[in-house]
Amino acid sequence: MRLILLGPPGGGKGTQAKRLQDDYQLAHLSTGDMLRAAVASGSEIGKKAKAVMDAGQLVSDEIVIGIISERIGQPDARKGFILDGFPRTVAQAEALDVMLAKQSIAVDAAIEVRVPDSMILERITGRFTCSKCGAGYHDKFQRPKVDGKCDACGSTEFTRRADDNAETVRSRLDAYHAQTAPILPFYEKKGVLKVVDGTLPIAEVTKRLKEIVEGASVG
Ligand code: AP5
Repeated sequence: MRLILLGPPGGGKGTQAKRLQDDYQLAHLSTGDMLRAAVASGSEIGKKAKAVMDAGQLVSDEIVIGIISERIGQPDARKGFILDGFPRTVAQAEALDVMLAKQSIAVDAAIEVRVPDSMILERITGRFTCSKCGAGYHDKFQRPKVDGKCDACGSTEFTRRADDNAETVRSRLDAYHAQTAPILPFYEKKGVLKVVDGTLPIAEVTKRLKEIVEGASVG
């Protein structure tokens, strides 16, 4: 199974990808996570990406396609994957087709998690993550069961992303509408585009995604 989760920044792609990956034994391939790891490591790619990410703009196609083409060929991803945050431009979508054609495979479903811009600021500014295991939370919508303690690993340390602030949300949304939304028709033409209402509670969004995944796996 090869899935793409599409949708605006803060729309719930990462939250849902984490919930689906274990149930379907899929590798979760997040270009945002890969780029943040590159920034943290101080690599050349990380140095180039940092300022662009902090400004809420898109890192160059060349860098991102390079990162993902290496990752998609690894054994766990060859068994199946969920792409989260890639592709984000038509050029990236075309490059993905070329990568998959080399393995004689194709995307089973590209799912748009649809959330209006008016809900995004609150989603993004309330987000935080466990520093140890990466589990995601929200100040209002997804609090840990015990305040200050990660449900998954018990750690008491959490982080907030450098780009999760009100100033960058507008540029990230602008980049989404100008550069990423045009790939929706790309997948619609291929007959693999599905839409899920991302304004619903997290568990309900997961349920609807699973219906699509299970439909795609038998269809
Ligand atoms: P990336 O890390 O991909 O960020 P993004 O697309 O902006 O998406 P987010 O991770 O912010 O949101 P999400 O949809 O995963 O939401 P989440 O599940 O966390 O990219 C960061 C940067 O890297 C980019 O700006 C760019 O510079 C660069 N980059 C990455 N990929 C690139 C590419 N391919 N090309 C070029 N540049 C690239 O949810 C958000 C919050 O809401 C959470 O707190 C969650 O708990 C909560 N929540 C989720 N679902 C719900 C719900 N249904 N109801 C209530 N709350 C919810």
